Amino acid sequence: ARDGAFNGDLPTSLDEVTAAVQVCRRCDLWRDATQAVPGQGAAHAPLMFVGEQPGDQEDLAGLPFVGPAGQVFDQALKEAGVPRDRAFVTNAVKHFKHEPRGKRRIHKTPDRGEVQACRWWLDAERRLVRPRVIVALGATAALAVTGKATPIAANRGKALQLPDQGNGQARLVVTYHPSFLLRLPDADARERARAEFVDDLRLAGELAK
Ligand code: URA
Repeated sequence: ARDGAFNGDLPTSLDEVTAAVQVCRRCDLWRDATQAVPGQGAAHAPLMFVGEQPGDQEDLAGLPFVGPAGQVFDQALKEAGVPRDRAFVTNAVKHFKHEPRGKRRIHKTPDRGEVQACRWWLDAERRLVRPRVIVALGATAALAVTGKATPIAANRGKALQLPDQGNGQARLVVTYHPSFLLRLPDADARERARAEFVDDLRLAGELAK
C-alpha cells in the first residue's frame, strides 16, 4: 500500500501511475492535500518538464502547472516555440505541502525525505515516458532528477547528460522555477532571468527534436 496498489511491482502504464499515486502513503504529505497530482502529457513525449510540487490551484484541479506559475511557464513555452502538448509535465513531489495562513494555504518547500520518497513516482514516469530531454525547473526538481544538489545558476543554459539508470539516455537542462521569476523584486533582474528561462526552454526544445 505504501506504493499505492503495488507490492514490489512497478507500474506498467501512466494510467496505473495516475490511479495508484492517489493512495500513496510513502510520506505524510497526502494527509493535508486534496489529491495527488500526477504528471500530464503524452506517453513517449520527447520532452519532460519536472516542477517542484503542485501549488494551491494544482491541488484543487488535480493537474500540474495550471496556476500562476503555470501561466509564466505557458507564456515562456510559447516564446520558446515549444508546444506544451509535445511535453510530459510533472512534479518532483506529487502532493501539495502547505501551511495555513488565515484562509490561504501557503506553499512549503518539500524536504529531502519527501523528495526522496516521491522519486519512486518520478522514476516510474521517467521509465514509462522515456523522454529524450528532461528539464528540471528549479533546485528541488534538479535534486529529484539527478539525486544530488545541483545549483541552478551554475548549471543552467547548457545540455547536461544523465546517466542511464534503467530510464534510458536523456539529456538534462536545469533552469529556474517559474515561481522564482515571479518573486524576483527587481524588474531588470526579473526580465533578464525570464529571458534566460525562455532560452533554456528553447534549448530543450531543440535537443528534443
Ligand atoms: N509549481 C510547481 O512546481 N508545480 C506545479 O505544478 C505548480 C506550481
